[in-house]
Amino acid sequence: MLSVQGLRVAYGHAEALRGVDLEAKGGEITAIIGSNGAGKTSALMAISGLVPVTAGEIRLEGRSILGMKPYEIAQLGIAHVLEGRQLFADQTVEDNLLLGAYTRLPHDRARVAEIMEREMNRFPILQRRRHQFAGNLSGGEQQMLAIARGLMSDPKLILMDEPSMGLAPLVVQEIARILRGLRQEGSTIILVEQMASVALQLADRVYVFENGRIKLSGTGIQLASDPEVKRAYLGG
Ligand SMILES: Nc1ncnc2c1ncn2[C@@H]1O[C@H](COP(=O)(O)OP(=O)(O)OP(=O)(O)O)[C@@H](O)[C@H]1O
Ligand SMILES: [Mg+2]
Repeated sequence: MLSVQGLRVAYGHAEALRGVDLEAKGGEITAIIGSNGAGKTSALMAISGLVPVTAGEIRLEGRSILGMKPYEIAQLGIAHVLEGRQLFADQTVEDNLLLGAYTRLPHDRARVAEIMEREMNRFPILQRRRHQFAGNLSGGEQQMLAIARGLMSDPKLILMDEPSMGLAPLVVQEIARILRGLRQEGSTIILVEQMASVALQLADRVYVFENGRIKLSGTGIQLASDPEVKRAYLGG
């Protein structure tokens, strides 16, 4: 579905990514783990066109998307659930969801209504909070809204940046259950996750980032039993 080769991203003189190769296969969850500042968010931002790329190639279904504008990449079917949720706090749940559909399905009201119902069923709490302001939701509810907003564009590929951040363990398990459900439906996901234990449970394939490079990669099962991963990321 997505292939990234030799990806470099820099902020001024500071290189955040120093030549990253990765692949996300259709119907799979590909996880990126790694410590603070490793370049995980920069990789997602480069894919969705939010930061410029200094070298490398990014292909969606074989077609280069390098240099495209973020809205063009969104129209091609890549949805980005940003780190920190980035909701419109003073808009209702429903309006946030409508905005999620807008880039890709602006004129197809019937289809948007259909997808809205699909997401309300996936996240019943959003149905109950439908007319409340996003800013008044709990952290877990806001994360669910951010994911649902991404799904409103009916994406081919979903990029999720730290969906578990700041959430209680029970809520993290709920998000993990949602991701498993999406995978079962055939969705393709790139998941950036600080909680390596969650990522390794969910992911088909995992990349470990360190200082802007890929340090290790393998299946979730392989990496969960790797001594180095255990020591550095799984707390023993
Ligand atoms: N807008 C920016 N301007 C300058 N440097 C930046 C900017 N964004 C990120 N960086 C730097 O680039 C490097 C990679 O950051 P990035 O946010 O991609 O890492 P990350 O793996 O997502 O970290 P975290 O786990 O904290 O979210 C870091 O050294 C960071 O300080
Ligand atoms: Mg980050």
